Amino acid sequence: MGEIIAIVSGKGGVGKTTLVGNLGIALAELKYSVLMIDADLAMANLSLLMGLKTPPITIHDVLLGSAPAHDAIYDCPAGAKMIPAGLSVSFYTRVDIDRLVAVTKDLQQKFDYVLIDSPAGIEKNVVAAMSAATQIMLITEPTAPSVADAFKAKIVAQRLNQRVMGVIINKCSNTKGEISETEIMKMLELPSYGKIPYSEDIRESFLLKKIKPVIVYKPSSPAANSFRAIARRITGKEVDTDVKPEKKGGLFSGLFAALKNIFSKKTKEK
Ligand SMILES: Nc1ncnc2c1ncn2[C@@H]1O[C@H](COP(=O)(O)OP(=O)(O)OP(=O)(O)O)[C@@H](O)[C@H]1O
Ligand SMILES: [Mg+2]
Repeated sequence: MGEIIAIVSGKGGVGKTTLVGNLGIALAELKYSVLMIDADLAMANLSLLMGLKTPPITIHDVLLGSAPAHDAIYDCPAGAKMIPAGLSVSFYTRVDIDRLVAVTKDLQQKFDYVLIDSPAGIEKNVVAAMSAATQIMLITEPTAPSVADAFKAKIVAQRLNQRVMGVIINKCSNTKGEISETEIMKMLELPSYGKIPYSEDIRESFLLKKIKPVIVYKPSSPAANSFRAIARRITGKEVDTDVKPEKKGGLFSGLFAALKNIFSKKTKEK
């Protein structure tokens, strides 16, 4: 029985697809069997990152019940596999996303890790991606709006009784004002599975004629190695679950305390 990990952020553009693509390959490099699923049905782009232009059978066909899941599985670097999403808008409006739970349950028998690339937000399709997972990994940028949205996603996951395993911090640049890893762990009350630097190599890897995951484009770059470190932690090596005390009086901690209050009140009212 494998793990099904949904990568969720709340906020858009923080690096979910980049994480799924690179982490999938990093796990495959460690010789685990890996399947990545593009569950961002409206704005699919994991297939572009993996260099699949127009895959004939996609998750849309699987969710429509017109193809079995194994017909929609394609090869990726390092032996990883993926199920892409279709690019057609009309398909998108017809699919039954709730079938995703049954689809992943079946695939869980065949892979060590199933990684789900979810859409931004906390709406129906994100709820379906969360429900189809055994664990949820949050990803955030080290900025106030991104951490606040990750927190909202965590609350949604908890309401679904889904386990949130931790948080990954992307686009770290050590700029003044960035929220520290320790502070983010404390705010979200979650362990960190690692930091990914803000990386020109990642930016460039998206600007190529044929886009590539950075782990393929620049295999020895710091960014590529940060995905490998996250893969090692996920496979159960070393995770720093020790949430250290936050320094008092940060500008953001006051805002966050207020947000936390609003959300926990709503949770209690439910
Ligand atoms: N560590 C990084 N350094 C520099 N650029 C990055 C980094 N991570 C992601 N990006 C860039 O940020 C943009 C958004 O990344 P990505 O598509 O992975 O985010 P997403 O969370 O999947 O977005 P969406 O919510 O739209 O699905 C891309 O152009 C990507 O190249
Ligand atoms: Mg995406």
